[in-house]
Amino acid sequence: MNTLTNKLAVITGGNSGIGYATAQEFIASGAQVIITGRNKQAVNEAAATLSNHTIGVVSDAAVISDIKQITETVKSLNKPLDILFINAGVAAFSPVEQITEEHFDYITDINYKGALFTLQQCIPLLSDHASVIFLTSVNATSGMANTAVYAASKAALHAVVKVAANELSSRGIRVNAVSPGPINTPLFGKVGLDEAAIQGFAHAMQNSIPLKRFGGANEVSKLVTFLASDDAKFITGAEFVIDGGVNVNRIL
Ligand SMILES: NC(=O)c1ccc[n+]([C@@H]2O[C@H](COP(=O)([O-])OP(=O)(O)OC[C@H]3O[C@@H](n4cnc5c(N)ncnc54)[C@H](OP(=O)(O)O)[C@@H]3O)[C@@H](O)[C@H]2O)c1
Repeated sequence: MNTLTNKLAVITGGNSGIGYATAQEFIASGAQVIITGRNKQAVNEAAATLSNHTIGVVSDAAVISDIKQITETVKSLNKPLDILFINAGVAAFSPVEQITEEHFDYITDINYKGALFTLQQCIPLLSDHASVIFLTSVNATSGMANTAVYAASKAALHAVVKVAANELSSRGIRVNAVSPGPINTPLFGKVGLDEAAIQGFAHAMQNSIPLKRFGGANEVSKLVTFLASDDAKFITGAEFVIDGGVNVNRIL
């Protein structure tokens, strides 16, 4: 369905996983898409594979001055920005006792600082009635061991979503969070564990998910696409959990 026809969208972290799947879904729904990422080759290859009209922008979310690459690209198209999907993020794990400043800064600079300033810098470019979606995580509230910094970075975004939804409501701009449980993406291969540890972790996690499987990036992308569309025009300041029931299985 062409629910996003004539809309311009920015997806941060659009060269992989949930961001890439959402770019596919946005394009199939009629939007023009700008994707970002840190790695020039990965960004350019993803943009070229997505469609002729997709624009790839190299912009490191942890570097505030890099956000200018996004805003300048939007300005060059002479169109307001209708959809901002702030998705770029990293995960890394550490028990609280062993958290280092480097671990804290690495995750916080990308997941929290980068996400907040991406919204801030894009606000002047947003169309009235635009939709902003932050990709958060059920880890924000689940208390899973070894996730203190990651969980806090996503919990911080839940606070930002509510405040920004309030502040931007006068322009009709909606701000929401999509909060996934375990989703099958390349993320798990990037957390510094070896293949056997990843498989063990995935197996244990899968068994504790009521629906007994990881979600697909294409399932998250459909929820994001709904929130991006005018069908969701009365929804703002809300968090949407998509987790196969992890959220209701706390006894385990
Ligand atoms: N997979 C899950 O189970 C899960 C669950 C809950 C929430 N999430 C969240 O979902 C979001 C997307 O993750 P994913 O699972 O789709 O993982 P992914 O496949 O690793 O995708 C993450 C994307 O973010 C980009 N990115 C990372 N750091 C960046 C930076 N500093 N600047 C710009 N782009 C950057 C990555 O680019 P590079 O490849 O160049 O690093 C990649 O395009 C993240 O915010 C993650 O925290 C994932």
